[in-house]
Amino acid sequence: MTSSKSIRHWKFTKFLSNKDYIFNRSYVLKFVSSKSLGNAYKSVSGWKNYKVTPLLSLNKLKKNLKLKNVFYKDESKRFHLKSFKALGGAYAVEKISKGKKNIIISSATAGNHGRSVAWGAKRLGLKCKIFVSQYVSETRVNEIKKFGAEVIRVKGDYESSLNECKKLSKKNSWKIVQDVSTKNYKLVPQLTMAGYSLMIKEISKQTNQYITHIFLQAGVGGMAAGVVAGVAKYFKRIPKIIIVEPDRADCVLQSIKSRKLKKIKIKKESIMGGMSCNEMSYIPWQILKKASNYCVSVSDKNVAKTVALLKDKKLSKNSIIGGECSTPGIISLVSVCNNSKTRKLIELSEKSNVLIIGCEGNADVKLYKQLLSKGRK
Ligand SMILES: Cc1ncc(COP(=O)(O)O)c(C=O)c1O
Repeated sequence: MTSSKSIRHWKFTKFLSNKDYIFNRSYVLKFVSSKSLGNAYKSVSGWKNYKVTPLLSLNKLKKNLKLKNVFYKDESKRFHLKSFKALGGAYAVEKISKGKKNIIISSATAGNHGRSVAWGAKRLGLKCKIFVSQYVSETRVNEIKKFGAEVIRVKGDYESSLNECKKLSKKNSWKIVQDVSTKNYKLVPQLTMAGYSLMIKEISKQTNQYITHIFLQAGVGGMAAGVVAGVAKYFKRIPKIIIVEPDRADCVLQSIKSRKLKKIKIKKESIMGGMSCNEMSYIPWQILKKASNYCVSVSDKNVAKTVALLKDKKLSKNSIIGGECSTPGIISLVSVCNNSKTRKLIELSEKSNVLIIGCEGNADVKLYKQLLSKGRK
């Protein structure tokens, strides 16, 4: 059985204060409008089997770190898809298909986004083609196939799979539903982010405590920006926003540091596969370059341990199934608290109500089992 004592030694890799921080609700909602957030909530909350995901208390962790509350939004329960991604891609499919039945949906994915798109297409009876790189596990591919999508494997990394998706979609007039935005591709990613903001709408009803800090995982930044948009619309008080990334893929931290969108080189993929991204999405960059207070990067070292701590009730009263991408929020919170300088700087105290997004459950069952057994050693 794993013990929670060792967390006292956890450290982050990098910590950065954003010199350009300024949270302005109307600036944020210029990029993902308040109306689009409301529309997303109206649609998704009306879907069959919609259920608000639990807002759990990591009550043992909060005691250990001497904080008032550590809330954990448990997205492992989201629509049986086991990830917050169910809110984004599937909603975008619904919006762009506009009730038509004769269109074919396509997307490139590292895993969870593709599942959401495939599930969204299946819900509406649409055909779907999902492109994956050579690095996407067979388990994740099988999960996508379960929703009736055709999966096309492409040699190379995520970018290669996206290029192939674009090429074939253009040739065959398939409708691409991609969660990554560029200057010329905004609408679908905006819809996706509007879907993610449901998490904040739900939380605003699940507690009457004011959240003081949110630790937000980022890959290309879509989830973080969607949550920030939700905060701008639904929260009465603005919490401190802390962006969390794997140190092998810290494209948000590097962009904020250099005050411009920065493409980085990933030398080795992080075990947190969904977050292993080398460049931010365009709209999230516009939002996060202002709205994030701090960036933290963490190594893969404590991922397995955290999976085990969650499962073995070392952080909370009940057992929690959190996959690899659910762990870095906890790892960075612990690491920032362990360092008296950063703890003080970001004003973490006995008065703090911290929110962590438990963004996925055992979405990759095989990897989850491996991490759990490694973390228990
Ligand atoms: C499973 C999973 N995939 C991907 C991401 C990254 O999302 P995005 O690329 O929108 O920043 C996360 C969380 O940050 C995640 O938990």
